[in-house]
Amino acid sequence: MNPPQDFSRIRHDDNTSWFHPWEYLPDKGRANRTIVSHAEGIYVYDEHGHKLIDGPGGMWCVQIGYKRREMADAIAEQIMRVPYMNPFSLTSAPPAQLAARLAAMAPGDLKHVFFTTDGSSSVDAALRFVQFYNNFKGRPAKKHIVSRANAYHGGTHLCALVSGKYRGDQCWFDLAWPYAHFLPHVNPARRPAGMSVEAFCDEKVNDLEAKILELGPERVAAFIAEPIQASGGVIVPPEGYLRRCWELCRRYDVIFIADEIVTAFGRLGHWFASKEVFGIEPDIITCAKGLTSGYVPLGAWLVSDRLFGEVAGDNSRGSSFSCGFTYSGHPVSCAAALKNIEIIEREGILAHVREVTAHFQRRLNDLRDIPLVFDTRGMGLVGCVECTVAHAHGSDLDEQRVLELDVDLGARIDRHCHELGLMVRPLINQCVFSPPLIITRDEIDRMFDMLREAILRTMHDVERELGIDVA
Ligand SMILES: Cc1ncc(COP(=O)(O)O)c(C=O)c1O
Repeated sequence: MNPPQDFSRIRHDDNTSWFHPWEYLPDKGRANRTIVSHAEGIYVYDEHGHKLIDGPGGMWCVQIGYKRREMADAIAEQIMRVPYMNPFSLTSAPPAQLAARLAAMAPGDLKHVFFTTDGSSSVDAALRFVQFYNNFKGRPAKKHIVSRANAYHGGTHLCALVSGKYRGDQCWFDLAWPYAHFLPHVNPARRPAGMSVEAFCDEKVNDLEAKILELGPERVAAFIAEPIQASGGVIVPPEGYLRRCWELCRRYDVIFIADEIVTAFGRLGHWFASKEVFGIEPDIITCAKGLTSGYVPLGAWLVSDRLFGEVAGDNSRGSSFSCGFTYSGHPVSCAAALKNIEIIEREGILAHVREVTAHFQRRLNDLRDIPLVFDTRGMGLVGCVECTVAHAHGSDLDEQRVLELDVDLGARIDRHCHELGLMVRPLINQCVFSPPLIITRDEIDRMFDMLREAILRTMHDVERELGIDVA
């Protein structure tokens, strides 16, 4: 039984004092966010007692679902045994065992595991390793990082510098950095009219090669890519794209960083997606989120034996890798990760994801028959539905008005979903979802039934308000 909570007090304190991530500043003080009162399985409960399917799975992270007693026990036991340990000079069982587990699960020769506290600190520290590596090898000009439009790699300064997603007009951060370069988008749904997906893929691979050649391979340090771009709108690149980019990186001696912060730990049905799903063996993989199913914070990045061997041991010339965190390899977080991995294994969750994926993706793609829907896309248990009123008729909507309406569509759908019993994550005119991996086939049906109804209601609202016909 959960103790009673004073929701009006929580509302007040939250509105007045908590400066949230990506805070939408005009709403400061009156954002009135949904208060999560408790959570169990794939459901979260709001302050009114509404039971909602957690469509986004927290933030792409609650793989095993909520309220797992054995996770709570493992965390509590570790707190009573060793709640903290200085990772700079000491070690203990959970981080050592977890490092060995991750090294065994990872593709290729990714044998060295650096622990961080979250996704951003993983990407940040991995990029610092790339810099360290090339400077150490006597090639300080090899510093340029190639990234892509819509990429999201985290919230620290260095992550933001390589994230294409931040580059909006209203950003106000200092993001100009001569070492970051952004390739055009890789969204097949937005390819030029008349172009085949294969030709589009060729063009995207050429974008990378052209950029490497323009800068000069001797100046390009790394290419960083999410296997599927998550926060950028679940953009699944064309078949073969990642493998061909990886081959180019090999050819030009460019480090390939796979940002698997969303795709690892079962989201696409495998521990890591790089090898099993996309056929690549990156030089570095970053991960976080599903590593602990979000129960406690933890991140990690893994580096290949090939790269590490060039700067460590007999080759190290007395150097240290001067980068680390007080909470690197936190024993409580690592104990949670080990328990999380044990649960995923014991319950066959990876196989379950592979089994229900086709159904999930079919139900997602079925939404395309709704006139408001412009595109649906996804992979594994990740999906996105993108809507637009661009083709509405019965009114003289100009481009500006279409943009204004589209911007609000995700939030409108989200509101209807909430009334129906589903949470999604609105991103402008899109809704993305990545439910807990334990979701059953029946629950997937319920989820898409609600989403369909919410999109239809949104479409009818817009039609009624504007006197237009979206169909
Ligand atoms: C692909 C990717 N990389 C990095 C991050 C940053 O992770 P965190 O928010 O844990 O710092 C995210 C977060 O959503 C992500 O999706």
